[in-house]
Amino acid sequence: MKERIIAGEILPGDSELEATIRPQRLADFTGQDKVKANLEVFIRAALLRKETLDHVLLYGPPGLGKTTLARIIARELGVNIHITSGPAIERPGDLAALLTGLGTGDVLFIDEIHRLSHSVEEILYPAMEDFALDIVVGKGPSARSLRLDLARFTLVGATTRIGLLSAPLRDRFGVVSRLEYYDAKALASILHRSAKILGVDLIEESALEVAKRSRGTPRIANRLLKRVRDFAQVKGENKISLETTRMALTRLEVDPLGLDKTDRELLLALIQKFSGGPVGLETLAATLSEDAGTIEEVYEPYLLQQGLLQRTPRGRIVTPLAYEHLNLPFPGQGELLFTERG
Ligand SMILES: Nc1ncnc2c1ncn2[C@@H]1O[C@H](COP(=O)(O)OP(=O)(O)OP(=O)(O)O)[C@@H](O)[C@H]1O
Ligand SMILES: [Mg+2]
Repeated sequence: MKERIIAGEILPGDSELEATIRPQRLADFTGQDKVKANLEVFIRAALLRKETLDHVLLYGPPGLGKTTLARIIARELGVNIHITSGPAIERPGDLAALLTGLGTGDVLFIDEIHRLSHSVEEILYPAMEDFALDIVVGKGPSARSLRLDLARFTLVGATTRIGLLSAPLRDRFGVVSRLEYYDAKALASILHRSAKILGVDLIEESALEVAKRSRGTPRIANRLLKRVRDFAQVKGENKISLETTRMALTRLEVDPLGLDKTDRELLLALIQKFSGGPVGLETLAATLSEDAGTIEEVYEPYLLQQGLLQRTPRGRIVTPLAYEHLNLPFPGQGELLFTERG
């Protein structure tokens, strides 16, 4: 699949930038007010009572701040964080080794926690509930189970696919928080902070312009900012103007709604080749020479969310909003009905 500048997932060029601009404290973490306010209370209460924080599950689309929050939680608690991920823990023994290495109060962060295997999950249950590790010693009839005490720790799990998490695992988290897409105002303030760290300055209109095209996602906003900064520096601007911002984003082919070329091609294909639909997913996929799964899981969600596309039992249709966005005349209700019948 091609690399898209508006992808919420991490891209190879992101890591270095993210390491420098990722907020370290809760106070620097903008937006997600409800999640933040709750965490603040739970963290403070845990500190006051000198207890460990309840296990926390963070879920939501890529690039919204799950990993960032996990690190912030550990920092605010003043404890060590041990970072791993579902696919990295292959065998129960791998998890057992991680668990026995935890100090009291430490945070164990498991990213992509929905990808833990069943046998690994079984180890995790008593660890989360009783801070104990059940191990079987010996084989056959002489085998017996030993219970090993663990230090009390906080598990922070993150997932983009809450639906794939098993119910028993989900139920063992005391705090379950869903991260939402950010509004333009919150993204603009994240952008001002990032710009400062990058050694540039943005006028408010420029920050808002990048924000509006970032699909509600800080990771995308920061990525776009980095590229806009390049254009501004070449122009010798020390405060990035709206004109330069718009020029840069046009050159990057990210439009005012945050759609890229692929998004527009999909909508255009529907309009020009199928009179706006309805068209089946497989037919659309063949037309675009794309994999149906990719269209469904990667391209469509944002278009659906923006109300540019609809899924109906008879197939995909584009909405009047999509025509408007692409500056194309909407054929009108009557004509649509006519083509459907005829
Ligand atoms: N609320 C925020 N305030 C400031 N910056 C943020 C915020 N949320 C995310 N970011 C920035 O966006 C980047 C991506 O965030 P993060 O890695 O935490 O996302 P994620 O939810 O873990 O994504 P993934 O699902 O891909 O693991 C971070 O490097 C950070 O700089
Ligand atoms: Mg992450």
